[in-house]
Amino acid sequence: MKDMGWQALWWHHFFLLWSTIDAQTRYSIPEELKHGSVVGNLAKDLGLTLTEISERALRVASESGEQYFRVDAGRGELLVNDRIDREALCGQSASCVLPLQLVLEKPLSLHRIEVEIQDINDNPPKFYTEELFLNISETAVVGTRFPLESAEDSDVGGNSVKSYTLTKNECFTLKMKEVEDGKTVPELVLEKSLDREIKAVHQLRLTALDGGNPVKSGTSTITITVLDVNDNFPVFEKNSYRVSLLENTAKGSFVIKVAATDADEGPNGEIEFSFGARTPDSVLTLFNINPSSGEIILKGDLDYERETSYKIEITAKDKGSPEMQSHCRLQIDVIDVNDNKPEIILTSEPQPVREDAPGGTVVALLNVRDADSVNNSKVTLQISKGSPFKLKTSFSNNYALITSGPLDREKVSDYHVEITATDSGSPPLSSKRIVSVRITDVNDNPPVFTQKSYNVYLKENGVPGSILFSVSASDLDSGENAKISYSILDSKVQDVSVSSYVYMNSENGSIYSMHSFDYEKLKVFEIHVQAKDQGSPSLSSNATVHVFILDQNDNAPAVIYPSSAALGSLSHQRMPRSAKAGHLVTKVTAVDADSGHNAWISYRLAEATDASLFSVNLYTGEVRTKRAVSEQDDSSQRLILEIKDDGEPLQSATVTVSILLEDALHEPISELRLHKASEPSKKSGRITLYLILSLASVSVLSLLTFVILAVKCMRSSRSSGSCCCMRRQDSEDYKNPNRNLQIQLNTDGPIKYVEVLGGDMMSQSQSFRSCMSPMSEYSDFTLIKPSSTTDFKEVISVLDASLPDSTWTFESQQVTPNRWTATSRVSKAETHTAVNHSGFAKYKIKA
Ligand SMILES: *[C@@H]1O[C@H](CO)[C@@H](O)[C@H](O)[C@H]1NC(C)=O
Ligand SMILES: *[C@@H]1O[C@H](CO)[C@@H](O)[C@H](O)[C@H]1NC(C)=O
Ligand SMILES: *[C@@H]1O[C@H](CO)[C@@H](O)[C@H](O)[C@H]1NC(C)=O
Ligand SMILES: *[C@@H]1O[C@H](CO)[C@@H](O)[C@H](O)[C@H]1NC(C)=O
Repeated sequence: MKDMGWQALWWHHFFLLWSTIDAQTRYSIPEELKHGSVVGNLAKDLGLTLTEISERALRVASESGEQYFRVDAGRGELLVNDRIDREALCGQSASCVLPLQLVLEKPLSLHRIEVEIQDINDNPPKFYTEELFLNISETAVVGTRFPLESAEDSDVGGNSVKSYTLTKNECFTLKMKEVEDGKTVPELVLEKSLDREIKAVHQLRLTALDGGNPVKSGTSTITITVLDVNDNFPVFEKNSYRVSLLENTAKGSFVIKVAATDADEGPNGEIEFSFGARTPDSVLTLFNINPSSGEIILKGDLDYERETSYKIEITAKDKGSPEMQSHCRLQIDVIDVNDNKPEIILTSEPQPVREDAPGGTVVALLNVRDADSVNNSKVTLQISKGSPFKLKTSFSNNYALITSGPLDREKVSDYHVEITATDSGSPPLSSKRIVSVRITDVNDNPPVFTQKSYNVYLKENGVPGSILFSVSASDLDSGENAKISYSILDSKVQDVSVSSYVYMNSENGSIYSMHSFDYEKLKVFEIHVQAKDQGSPSLSSNATVHVFILDQNDNAPAVIYPSSAALGSLSHQRMPRSAKAGHLVTKVTAVDADSGHNAWISYRLAEATDASLFSVNLYTGEVRTKRAVSEQDDSSQRLILEIKDDGEPLQSATVTVSILLEDALHEPISELRLHKASEPSKKSGRITLYLILSLASVSVLSLLTFVILAVKCMRSSRSSGSCCCMRRQDSEDYKNPNRNLQIQLNTDGPIKYVEVLGGDMMSQSQSFRSCMSPMSEYSDFTLIKPSSTTDFKEVISVLDASLPDSTWTFESQQVTPNRWTATSRVSKAETHTAVNHSGFAKYKIKA
């Protein structure tokens, strides 16, 4: 059915063409007819019969070698012999006519015919390049045109390219542009600005359509690459960053990494980081930023005390042209680390403190600092233990060092108070400071003598002005408070001011004598000395110096009997011629003002008329006859006696005794005999009597005391019982003093002694004993006695008074159950003095 339609159309065209070309036979055929298709009926058109055609061999003379047509002799028709491509034969020319020559033989004749080749739409439009690449900048303005390649169509006329279409898109439209001789070329028109960042590549398809029927088309793809323009800022991930770093973070540590993106591509999108242009040097020296990675590294040492926080501007910059940049802020907070020791500052130098300063006296002011913050700078202070100081807070971190206890410069004169400051960091740091405090002296110590009392022994007859003694005192204070001046306190010595006897060097305590002392006049005296410091008020102390004058042998024995009116004059004694041997002629008595050995007198016969007649007792001075007086003896006898003491040097005296021998003196002789016989016993009897008397009085006194005590005790025992029983028992022992206190007088044998036994015989703790040596009747006297008793003093007095002025020795002895014995020998005078002075303890001085 379709084929039939096409044939009808073709025929219609054929007759139309034929009628128009009348002068010359012309056929019009479409191109691309099938082989054998009939072009025209030659027989009819040329007026030839079929037989003629076959006989005369009608044929097509070829002009070009190419035989597109042939003649069908049988039917007298021109047939298509080959494919006829109008485009190949005629190109783009609008008409395509092939001239043909038909040759007839016998006779040879030539017919010219034309075959017009009509175009059919057998070619689609075609682009020279099927893919088109375009680079368009992002910045291209709207309306910009981009010429495209036009499509070619081999067909002509209506079959040629008629229109173009473009795939729909937002950015581009298609416009036709007329060029010379009515030709049009397509152009791309930018309708909307491009953005590479939204769409980097646009793919379009351009289609060219021809006017044939059916329409044929050709396409070309257009790839539009949007060229990047640096139109995007780098963008940071965050507008601001914040990071905290410990103050002691090590160098080279990673701090933070900033990041930014840039929508652009290539160099336009390549970001470089840096610190802002106005970044201070303090940041630049501490931090480093990696330009490409954005990593920030610590390259210096942080110090919280210098800077607690850093605010840094960071710039990100691309490499486009012009470059684009943006900024962000980075805050780096430094966290405090306890890296600073507390510091103790003395705001006022320590002041010396008086030792009597009351508690709370301010010594020094302190201030404590710690460069760290918060807890790391919270400082507590501690003071070394044992010092009398403490710290008082005044206001923030200010302290006062005050005294907290009694001070004594004499014990500690300088304090080195160690103060420790510790902060509350972790670990805590601490520092120390030593505050030296000087304690100033206050006169709180009196001078102290080396001894409370001194004993000085001074020989009599010394040179006046010589140093007698030196006392010294010391004072614990210092300076003026310890400067001592010595003085003598006024007192009386034998009614004369002591200052007339001695004087004192106030500087060093040396005491000088101003007199030569005479033992015989002054045996002992006291000097009260005072040491006084120069403090204000001054303090003083007293001491006593006992000066004992020591006897020197400065007195010769003095003869008392026979008394002589003038020295050296004779003393006359009478004696009967009838006197037997041993007759006591006289007794020479002498005394010596000195004491001790210096007063130990011995008698010696120095010269005698008849040395064979008289002898002198060495100790008693008794002059006795050695033999019976004979008739031949002179009636006048003269004796010179030398009396010597035992001192060093010896002092002596002489006495001359004249003796007259008388014939008739009977009565005196008998008296003398009687006297002679009785005298020693009489004398010793006298002493014994005194002793008995004195001891009896002691006993009576004791008894009385005990009786009184007993009565008292009896009375009190009624109210308070047991305590007194002991006493009563004690007093029982003293009830009978005669039993307990025994006095023994022994005159037999060579030793004569009196023994006084006191107290219980069994305890034997106390006893008095008097011994008389054979040397003399009275020369030695020994007592063994209790340590203290006033009665004993009396005994001494009695003995002293009763005995002649010869030497006697006093011996003290105490026998205790503990079995120690102290014995001392003191001469009579010393004993006397000492006893008078202050009791028995003084005896030890001579021991
Ligand atoms: C388009 O640009 C690319 C790179 O930008 C280049 O390689 C290419 O040759 C360019 N094409 C044209 C047609 O200009
Ligand atoms: C400081 O110390 C106190 C008590 O120890 C604690 O409560 C506080 O959190 C500390 N402060 C700091 C900043 O460490
Ligand atoms: C005290 O001073 C006097 C005079 O300067 C001197 O003779 C004496 O020896 C001194 N005494 C002492 C104990 O130094
Ligand atoms: C020292 O003796 C004087 C005079 O007797 C007296 O006034 C003074 O108080 C005494 N000083 C001391 C410390 O005993």
